[in-house]
Amino acid sequence: MRAPVVVVVVVESFAAPSPRARVVHRVARAPRPPARVAVVVRPVADVVDAGAARARIASASRCDVGRGFAIVAAPRTSTRRRANRADDESARVRAGMRATAPMPRVATARARRERATRATGRWTRVRTATAPRARLGARTNASAAETLRFLTPEDVRDVAAAHGTPTYVYDRATLDAQAARARAFPNAYGLTVRYAMKASPNAAILKTFKKAGLHVDASSGYECERAMKAGFAGGEISLSTQELPSFFEDLVRRGVKVNACSLDQLERFGRAFPGGEVGVRFNPGLGSGGTGKTNVGGPSSSFGIWFESLPRVKEIVEQYDLKVVRVHTHIGSGSDPAVWQKVSGMSLDLCREFPSVDTLNLGGGYKVGRMSYEKSTDLAVVGVPVKEAFEAFAKETGRKLKLEIEPGTFLLANSCAVVTSVQDKVVTGTAEGHTFLKLDMGMTEVLRPSLYGSQHPLVSVSKAGELPAAQADYVVVGHCCESGDLLTPAPDEPETISERRMGEVNIGDYVVIEGSGAYCAGMSSKNYNSFPEAPEVMRLADGAGFAVIRRKQTLEQILANEVDFTA
Ligand SMILES: Cc1ncc(COP(=O)(O)O)c(C=O)c1O
Repeated sequence: MRAPVVVVVVVESFAAPSPRARVVHRVARAPRPPARVAVVVRPVADVVDAGAARARIASASRCDVGRGFAIVAAPRTSTRRRANRADDESARVRAGMRATAPMPRVATARARRERATRATGRWTRVRTATAPRARLGARTNASAAETLRFLTPEDVRDVAAAHGTPTYVYDRATLDAQAARARAFPNAYGLTVRYAMKASPNAAILKTFKKAGLHVDASSGYECERAMKAGFAGGEISLSTQELPSFFEDLVRRGVKVNACSLDQLERFGRAFPGGEVGVRFNPGLGSGGTGKTNVGGPSSSFGIWFESLPRVKEIVEQYDLKVVRVHTHIGSGSDPAVWQKVSGMSLDLCREFPSVDTLNLGGGYKVGRMSYEKSTDLAVVGVPVKEAFEAFAKETGRKLKLEIEPGTFLLANSCAVVTSVQDKVVTGTAEGHTFLKLDMGMTEVLRPSLYGSQHPLVSVSKAGELPAAQADYVVVGHCCESGDLLTPAPDEPETISERRMGEVNIGDYVVIEGSGAYCAGMSSKNYNSFPEAPEVMRLADGAGFAVIRRKQTLEQILANEVDFTA
């Protein structure tokens, strides 16, 4: 038997988030993880809220102790910060445990004040409005190593001159290359790759992927209509939705494949199509996402039918004489590959329950590094054990299941950049202040930093179309009247501003927001402050220039549906 390993963590300040989770995570990730790990954490002296900390550790201990992990001393930290991070879930999974419910973030004024104080090292006043406000003071100085991915500095200048700023620029070559990589996903008995069109639903992108042999994952009835308008046949679209549309019967008659995502959806389908073929989306009891907000599995998630409701699913299936032909699971965006692989096994177990199932859809969620220091999931690697599991399943049951995957981020994330202009520069004092760059875009184009604390590469380009030689530290903000409209939050902390080291720029120069393909144009806070939707262009293959794929919205279009009213 392997000897126990004792890891000693010294917590020196409140800034160390969830040390237990980190250590357990790291140790469990080791190539030969020890059989037993004891985590010893020396408590900090400056305790503010030891009660909350002890409660957190107690709940953590409940799931860790007895499963190969023991907490022999607890950190006393004042906050439950990051309690719902995917890392915690990953650590549990790697240790062979079941999912536990993520804990909600503490969002009280007091907690915010404490966080701000920790970051600045001094007592800090924060605003106590109900809406989250960015707090001041953190300095992370992320690396200045970010570069343009497919544009040249001259391209940036030319796009700005031809289309104005901000403009989304997609790259056809990257879209095609990612589609080819996805279609090479290891599989035993056939593969369908569905583009999760919520990532960016423009018809030009849909047509590009149709040509590349992809099918579609739609998440609303309207997305189904949009995909069909772009040329997809109904039979090439599967619908997994939180809201089964009132017109779903029409979609099914046109060939769209429904994955019932709740017991009620399954009943509605059964009533409308007794004897019909249907897919069932399960929540396998486990989730993993790059952030708590993109984790869509486990007991804290409403997505899919809870796996323990299997008997009820079978009753409904029998009642309406349905044929379950697909099992579907999707556990989050930016998932930990180890969790995803584990869920693949659990999903195969669900296929065992329905002899009529011929297809297993394992969703999307493959992690993509946008920043140079972030890692991407290699599909060719993560798919191998899944292929082997399909083969073992076939050997055991005689059933050769087809595989479906439905990536969005993988196909889109690094296939688009937003070209923006610096429209203002503001300095707040010296030692404690910052130099703010105000761009002519913001949460109206790229919401992810404000929503998730996501990091996007920011690359400076001069007015003349050159990369600046000098570097500077900036807080980069958007144009909305909202202190949370922030392009440089601290990682995973949308409420915390941080400085970014990047090329020195002035008013009128450009900043390119890289990694803006997935969940940007399709997920913006559209028309907030009445800013119009930015245009989208496609960089054509072989240097054939840029084609407009969506024009800039006009003020008339923003107002189009308002009805005259005499007050
Ligand atoms: C059901 C389903 N499939 C696929 C995806 C695509 O996920 P990703 O963009 O992380 O690959 C999503 C994203 O939310 C989803 O909800």
